[in-house]
Amino acid sequence: MDLLFILIGAGLAIFVILVSFKSIGAGIAAKSEINRQKDKLKSDEIEEEEILEEEELNGNEKGLSSNTFNQIDDVLFEIDKFKNIKFLNTAATKKFGKKLQGKHIATVLRVPEILQNIDVVLSTKKNKKIDIELNNPTFQFFSSYIILNNQNSVVIFLKDLTEIIKTQRLRSDFVANVSHELRTPLQSIKLGLETINKGHASNDFESQKKFLPILFQQTVRMENIVRDLLSLSKIELQEHIRPEKNVDIKKIISSVIEMNNEILKKNEIQAELKAPDNEYEILGDQDRLTEVFSNLIDNAAKYSKKGKKIFVNVENNEESVIVSIKDQGIGIPKEYIHRVTERFFRVNPSKSKDVGGTGLGLAIVKHIINQHRADMDIKSEEGVGTEFILKFPAI
Ligand SMILES: Nc1ncnc2c1ncn2[C@@H]1O[C@H](COP(=O)(O)OP(=O)(O)O)[C@@H](O)[C@H]1O
Ligand SMILES: [Mg+2]
Repeated sequence: MDLLFILIGAGLAIFVILVSFKSIGAGIAAKSEINRQKDKLKSDEIEEEEILEEEELNGNEKGLSSNTFNQIDDVLFEIDKFKNIKFLNTAATKKFGKKLQGKHIATVLRVPEILQNIDVVLSTKKNKKIDIELNNPTFQFFSSYIILNNQNSVVIFLKDLTEIIKTQRLRSDFVANVSHELRTPLQSIKLGLETINKGHASNDFESQKKFLPILFQQTVRMENIVRDLLSLSKIELQEHIRPEKNVDIKKIISSVIEMNNEILKKNEIQAELKAPDNEYEILGDQDRLTEVFSNLIDNAAKYSKKGKKIFVNVENNEESVIVSIKDQGIGIPKEYIHRVTERFFRVNPSKSKDVGGTGLGLAIVKHIINQHRADMDIKSEEGVGTEFILKFPAI
């Protein structure tokens, strides 16, 4: 028994010694690896220093080469005192075309302010910065710098700010639109309240009663705008997150038709759903898709005359699940079809307001469709009807 204990004890001791040797060995190996890496880093540093020194030397000897300017995305021209182009970088060629060397700068930049200021910079020897906005053929915005190069030439450097300015303007247009949309119902509410409070209706109960439905309607209108704005901003924030759950499109559409039963009945419109298979599963967000189909069926009902039909068809193929929502309504004029998904765009604003629209429905739909990585196509003919075709990627 004792012998057994001694043997186990010795075995354990040998094991511990082996393990510690192994870890010491590993430690030594790791250390030498670290040293090797350190040496490598050192030699890399030396190599890098050498390259830098070489580059500095080259730079000092040759100055900045045209190749350097060809690496940047901003446009650069060198212009002589006759305003002819001496040099243009690759970005300038891409933007304004080839074979421009030797040509007058006015052939590409017909901006009087720039032309005049080239002379000013050459004579005063002071650089200038000018913001320029071009609108032909499309909107472009540049910050241009006219920099003295030597006695006889200047460099024109154009920083393209088109996208940034466009986004800024869109945002401020949007704020202006929202304010206008909310102000209109707010003003009618204020006017109505004033009339009831101090105006001709102040002592007339019957007139007061006439104003109340208008006040109520305008309040609902404001509420709808705020609801749609919130929905729009939420989906805009989440547009990049693709839904991950399996949902059945057929089920969603059936329940949307049921939910919209009231407006369909009111407009005497029949909605017909054709979906031969039992299930049409896609990766989707149930609530968002409900919003999409509600908006499309609501529009189809609102922009149709009484007694018309809405045909909803669902189809499957290898790549996609295709939904078509087709109405027999008033249609959309050709020139406006591509604009109906813009925020607050309506073909006929007073008609849209009459039917309780906010002009935001299709903007919301478009974002949700993008979030689902789906496509939306709109076909429409005035007086005949409109068809929205949605293509969702198959699972
Ligand atoms: N099915 C349709 N038939 C005819 N016009 C439509 C249809 N759907 C949308 N439109 C037009 O597109 C505009 C924008 O639609 P939408 O964004 O839903 O806003 P609205 O709140 O005005 O319904 C509508 O005002 C209408 O002019
Ligand atoms: Mg709508």
